Amino acid sequence: MTPNEQKLPTNANTSGFYANPSTESYNSMHSSVHDLDLDVSESEDSDFALNYRPRLPYTKGFKFTVTRHEPPEPYGHGYDTKPPQRHSNWKSMSLVECCLSEPTINGQSSVGHTQTLTITGIIRTGYDRGAQLVEVNNTMVAKIYDPLYYNEFNDFGHRENVVDNAEGDYSREAIAYETLQQSSAARSVTPAYFGTWITEIETVVGKPSVSRKQIREVPLILIERLYGECMSWISPRLLRKRVRSLILKKVLCAEAVIYQAGVNHCDLSPRNIMVLGSNYEGPSVAITDIQLEVRVIDFNIAEVLRHPHYYNKYFDPASLDQWKLHLPSPIVRFHGCLNEFIPGWCSDDEDADKKWLWKHFHKDPRFAPVEYSKQGRPIHRASTIGSESGASIGSGREKTDTISKKY
Ligand SMILES: Nc1ncnc2c1ncn2[C@@H]1O[C@H](COP(=O)(O)OP(=O)(O)OP(=O)(O)O)[C@@H](O)[C@H]1O
Ligand SMILES: [Mg+2]
Repeated sequence: MTPNEQKLPTNANTSGFYANPSTESYNSMHSSVHDLDLDVSESEDSDFALNYRPRLPYTKGFKFTVTRHEPPEPYGHGYDTKPPQRHSNWKSMSLVECCLSEPTINGQSSVGHTQTLTITGIIRTGYDRGAQLVEVNNTMVAKIYDPLYYNEFNDFGHRENVVDNAEGDYSREAIAYETLQQSSAARSVTPAYFGTWITEIETVVGKPSVSRKQIREVPLILIERLYGECMSWISPRLLRKRVRSLILKKVLCAEAVIYQAGVNHCDLSPRNIMVLGSNYEGPSVAITDIQLEVRVIDFNIAEVLRHPHYYNKYFDPASLDQWKLHLPSPIVRFHGCLNEFIPGWCSDDEDADKKWLWKHFHKDPRFAPVEYSKQGRPIHRASTIGSESGASIGSGREKTDTISKKY
């Protein structure tokens, strides 16, 4: 266990070594291996096996052993780290061949530190889905970065190196969670974190008569299972306006807390927010009696702003020091950037989101005061947050004009 993560839930079995995967789950997993993705009946092609993906193993009841693992340095998406070297001819390989050709994960595993997990619920799994999200041991979520079930084509129809994508997601999400553990405020708005692990997945390819097995290492993180609603499942129009605002306000506060802890989430969207609480939907509960919390999830493209390999020529890590006393204001951070929450959560009209931001945050003393530049953009007021503060985050410096609010 690293100093940064939390103790595993007590009913997680941390003892012993187990064959992996268990014979039982292996048999049930492969008893009908030919009836789904690996449909070989119509193929005479001798290398057919390397074109069809084995059946997804991450089903309820699947038991597997995980070993502690130190991920590789984060790379891609804002980091200038040299990515791990991949086969130069990966584009001529099928997705299966590509995954089988790189069966180990970069980083360092701690032999001897293992635990057994059983999938007790499915959260989000599937082919071409990217990471697989499953509930394990009833208390935790395993986010499993198995490249075999990543989409090999991007939105433009171009081939992607799935091994690189999966390992990159793992490396970035791990460093983001590690960093967040150093701030109690950030821990309170994210799921509890139980570290980084690898498992060995036995992968069977080939016709049943001549099939061959190969072990692949697959990385995963363990986080707290959150019992709530994903914000993207909630229809804001079915909620009272004040409840919608209450939820969105908590989301933007959480984002500011995470930023203050040195992590830029980069993908704030309803699908990456869990809303916890139950009494916010009914029409009768007074707003002040509503018990509601939010948790921000999904850090696979987040940026750890103080990381030595984080690189952005417009960003100075020293500027983070200005957030010791105040949180960065959502009025500045989300000026014109609330699209993911429109329509529905704050407004539908043009510019109404900016009015909403002003209304809900300009008097909140937790956040740095805001003024408007000559160009009409909100910026943090320099006098209250130090010499770096004339700049709005990520947008460079603008001359200030002690103005007068716009909304
Ligand atoms: N700790 C958790 N507890 C409960 N549900 C979770 C948890 N983590 C994730 N989920 C659910 O799983 C979904 C996918 O998780 P996550 O966003 O981490 O995966 P992703 O593949 O990185 O996402 P995306 O599809 O946004 O790229 C979330 O939208 C949420 O509904
Ligand atoms: Mg997500």
